[in-house]
Amino acid sequence: MEVVIVPDAMAGGELIAEAVAALLRGKPDALLGVATGSTPLPVYQALAAQVRAGSVDASRARICQLDEYVGLPAGHPESYRSVVLREVVEPLGLGADSFMGPDGTAEDVPAACAAYDSALREAGGVDLQLLGIGTDGHIGFNEPCSSLASRTRIKTLTRQTREDNARFFERPEEVPHHVITQGIGTILEARHLVLLATGAGKADAVARAVEGPLTALVPASALQLHPHATVVVDEAAAAQLA
Ligand code: F6R
Repeated sequence: MEVVIVPDAMAGGELIAEAVAALLRGKPDALLGVATGSTPLPVYQALAAQVRAGSVDASRARICQLDEYVGLPAGHPESYRSVVLREVVEPLGLGADSFMGPDGTAEDVPAACAAYDSALREAGGVDLQLLGIGTDGHIGFNEPCSSLASRTRIKTLTRQTREDNARFFERPEEVPHHVITQGIGTILEARHLVLLATGAGKADAVARAVEGPLTALVPASALQLHPHATVVVDEAAAAQLA
């Protein structure tokens, strides 16, 4: 695992956007796995700026979601489908047909999860998966104690994660209890994992993921198993690293 410490979130965003741009220059139709939440926004902004400046052509890029709330209508502004359309697909000038995600409105959720794992495989696998990290060490929404071999499935959010995500909703009780998330086993199949963590609130989770033992109690520690994992942290998030 490679750990890169950058001065701030903006620098992290630019570094990762350049890595994505380099991937797209070599493989224009690369499949990019995107995370939602606040952390990756500087990456998407820096990548969109590169596209506007003409330094990378993202027109053939394919985008896939990491996770989705269960039960939010697809058109809800906080469904991850809406967020990815708004923050990634549209700024990159892509069409809605260039991205895919799990169906959080499916009546048969287990079938929707299996279908998403199959779709990722049929698409040739994820070339670069961008990850954030929860304050409890989750990746995707694989909360502590998730199996390190898990596949895409429904998970219940912890109270801590629902509180962390309440800022995106008008009222805290609107945060859904359930999500569909790529499993840790699914995430580990991506060819390159890039985790970005910024801010002092992530320092404990980062230290446990990077320097602690490999354990299902800290799902992000599973990156230690991956042959090509890059962890980009700003100085605040790096504060508890040895
Ligand atoms: C969201 C996701 C989550 C977030 C994590 C951090 O798609 O996969 O693991 O990356 O909850 O969220 P932020 O970046 O908002 O602190």
